[in-house]
Amino acid sequence: MKLNNLLKYGIILSIPALGLVSCVSSGDNPGIEYAPNMYVSQAYEPFSQEKKFDYNPNGMTMRLPVNGTVARGQGSFIYPHANTGDGYTASAGFTPWVAATQTNVEEGQRLYNIYCWHCHGKKGKNNGPIFKDKKMPVPSWPNYQSEYIQNLPVGKAYHTITYGKGLMGSHAFMLNPEERWKVIHYVKSLAYGDDFKFAPEASTSGEGADIDEIEGISSDVDGTMGVHHDFPGTAAEKAMIMTAMSKVDFKGFPNRRVMKASSEGQLDKVAVYLAKHPDFKATVVGQTWATLTEEGAATLGLDRAKNIVAYLTSKGVNAANLSARNVADAGMTGDITSSADRQANRRAEIEIYK
Ligand code: HEC
Repeated sequence: MKLNNLLKYGIILSIPALGLVSCVSSGDNPGIEYAPNMYVSQAYEPFSQEKKFDYNPNGMTMRLPVNGTVARGQGSFIYPHANTGDGYTASAGFTPWVAATQTNVEEGQRLYNIYCWHCHGKKGKNNGPIFKDKKMPVPSWPNYQSEYIQNLPVGKAYHTITYGKGLMGSHAFMLNPEERWKVIHYVKSLAYGDDFKFAPEASTSGEGADIDEIEGISSDVDGTMGVHHDFPGTAAEKAMIMTAMSKVDFKGFPNRRVMKASSEGQLDKVAVYLAKHPDFKATVVGQTWATLTEEGAATLGLDRAKNIVAYLTSKGVNAANLSARNVADAGMTGDITSSADRQANRRAEIEIYK
């Protein structure tokens, strides 16, 4: 009887005691969870771990973007030339998409007076405190007013700011691509002094977003995208080239780099024109609305432009006069979910200049 009672009370008391014990979690012991859904989210949390499998070897919920992915609006960060001697040489053909308007040059001056003057000097005389105090050897050229900087292709200056050169370090993390062009325009304005020609203010394409305003090739040929890119031919020739280029078209996924056959006849007109003017240069500008899903989307516009350059070369245009460039997806217009708008954005433009 006594034993029975002990057992009875023992069991009654041990139930809450057990309950208490199993609630205790510590260290490696999670305890018993009575309603785990309240603790463990059913939805995937970005920083949680998943089971590993072939395509997710690190078991991460938040996956790394596909190689070459470019965030929307950041397309202008794509720079086609490698940080090598050959890349530097090739950068001479890299042309600005930010015009040298007075506003942009003034912004360039503001940036220059933050990031550059302490070496190169306020007026580009290579007499900033670092050079003056001999903390660092000066460049081989005396100042920005020297022929070296006057004649330096702006693309090479862009390359130098992006990667650095010799003792000048990279300034890529301080200046976004648009700002780099503004600073370079300011450097050229110091180089040329009163002879520097500003681009007309109306044609400003200073910010990435402003590229939205540029429709078709007319603005390019006008020189709004480049600095010294006045169309060297007649108005009628310009109209002919514009019309032809507006009809150059690309296939959709998965042959996005391939020109539609109907484009060839149009490009033939451009080729004949360029071959007739061996002193003209041309930069083909590929436009893309790179979606984030396809590997290589980042270079799509450039690849298209290069394909056009290859076609023009095959039709007898001097390759030395041709270059290819990519425009940020900031230049895209319309609605990405509309196939007609996507088609309209699969275009290439051309800048012709002397
Ligand atoms: C720490 C000092 C220093 C700073 C800061 C600096 N530079 Fe330089 N820069 C140099 C030196 C040194 C060279 C010569 C490099 C060489 O040719 O080896 C040079 C070269 C250049 C050239 C000639 C490039 C070429 O392709 O030959 C340009 C243009 C230039 N700098 C512009 C700038 C601009 C614009 C900035 C600011 C964004 C800047 N630099 C900031 C030290 C500096």
